[in-house]
Amino acid sequence: MSLPVNEIRDRFPALRRHVNDRPVVYFDGPSGAQVPGTVAEAMRSYLLTTNANALGAFVTSRETEAIYDEARRAAADFTGSDPGEIAFGANMTTLSYALTRAVGRTLKPGDEIITTELEHEGNVSPWLQIAKDFGLAVRTVPLRREDATLDMDAYAALLGDRTRVVAFTLASNAFGSKTDVRRITGLAHEAGALAWGDAVHFAPHERIDRRAFGLDVLLCSPYKFFGPHLGLAAIDRELATTLPADRVRPAAENPPGHRFETGTQPHEAIAGFVAAVDYLAGLGKGPDRRRRLDDAYARIGAHERELSAHALRRMASIKGLKVYGITDPDRAGERTPTFSFTLPHRSPAQVAEQLGEQGIFTSAGNLYAFNASLAYGREEAGGWTRAGFLHYTTRSEVDRFCDAITEIAGHP
Ligand SMILES: Cc1ncc(COP(=O)(O)O)c(C=O)c1O
Repeated sequence: MSLPVNEIRDRFPALRRHVNDRPVVYFDGPSGAQVPGTVAEAMRSYLLTTNANALGAFVTSRETEAIYDEARRAAADFTGSDPGEIAFGANMTTLSYALTRAVGRTLKPGDEIITTELEHEGNVSPWLQIAKDFGLAVRTVPLRREDATLDMDAYAALLGDRTRVVAFTLASNAFGSKTDVRRITGLAHEAGALAWGDAVHFAPHERIDRRAFGLDVLLCSPYKFFGPHLGLAAIDRELATTLPADRVRPAAENPPGHRFETGTQPHEAIAGFVAAVDYLAGLGKGPDRRRRLDDAYARIGAHERELSAHALRRMASIKGLKVYGITDPDRAGERTPTFSFTLPHRSPAQVAEQLGEQGIFTSAGNLYAFNASLAYGREEAGGWTRAGFLHYTTRSEVDRFCDAITEIAGHP
C-alpha cells in the first residue's frame, strides 16, 4: 500500500532544482503541481511529430484525433464518467463561465443558486454574473469558523423550492477541508437542484467518482494533478446534450461534452494530460486504468495523511503560528495537506518572501478564497501564507518548512 516517494521524485525533473544552493521545496502545489518527465515528453513528441488540426485527410490529423479520443477516455476514467461527457477547455474558470452561462439561460428570475464560503472564486463569480444577467439569487452556505468546514445545518436550511443549483467545492484550496460530497449532492437532488462540484483542489489528493458522488457537473484542472495547463469538465450526458451551449455554426454536436469546447483545442496539452493520468494510474495496481487509479489514490491518501498529521503536530508547537481550519492530527483524513496560516509581526506576503529566499515555495494572499477571506476578516491583513503538499512531498521537506517557520516566528 505504500508509495515509493523517492522513486517518484526521480521522475519529476523540477524536483532537482536548487535556489540559493538548497533544493527547492514545492509547497505551492495548490497553485499548480510539477510534472513528471513523461508529461513533458508527450507534449514535445506531439508538437514535433504529430502537430496538426483535426478533420484533415492525412495521418497526423488522424493521429491527433486518436489522441483526443484517448484523452476523453482517460478523463472519463479519471472522473468516473463516460468519454462523451467530457469537455476540455483553457482552465476551470473559463469552463465554469461557459457552463454557468448555459445554465443561466434555462433559469427564471427569482431562481436560486447555492454556493459556499469555502469556494475558490472560480465557483462563485460566474454564478454572481449569471445572477445579475438573469435575475437570480445567490445564497451562500457559511463555514464554521472554528475548523473551516461547511455548516451543514445552514446548508439544509438554505435549500428550498426555488433552488436550482448547488455549487460547492469538494475540498477547500485554502484550508484543505473536504466537504461531505454525497450528503450535499443527495440534499441538492431531493430539492430538485443540480449538484455542481469544483474538484480542482481535491483532484491531486483524492479519487474522484462523479457518478458515485452524485454530481451533475464536475470541474477540475489537470495542471493541479501533474499535467499541463488545461481545464476539464465532466457533465452528465443528458445535461450536456440539452444545455444551450455557445456554438459556432454548423458545429458538430457530438459527443455531448464537445458542445462546450469552442475552437481548436490545445492538442499538445491534451496529449500531456493523457500522460498525466497514465502517470497517476501507474502508481497503483489493478486490471484496468480505473482500478489502478483507485489503488494509486489509496496510496497517495495514506502518504498525505501521515504528512498532514506530522505537520499539524509540529505546527502546534510553533509559538505565535495560527493555522486556520482543521488542526487536530487525528482528523487529518478530513482535510488535504494544505495549510493556511499567519504569524504575528509579519504579513503573509513577507513570510512567503522569506521562505522563498530559502527555496521553500509557498503562496500568499486571499488565494481567491475570497468569501473565506471576508468571513475571517483577512482581506485587510493580506490573507494567509499557504503551504500545500503533494504526493511527492517528503517528511524531511515538512521538517525543513517547520524549522524555517519556527526560525521566522522566533525573530519578530
Ligand atoms: C478550488 C479551486 N477552484 C478553481 C480554481 C480555478 O482553476 P483554474 O486556474 O483552472 O481556472 C482553483 C485554482 O487554484 C482552485 O484551487
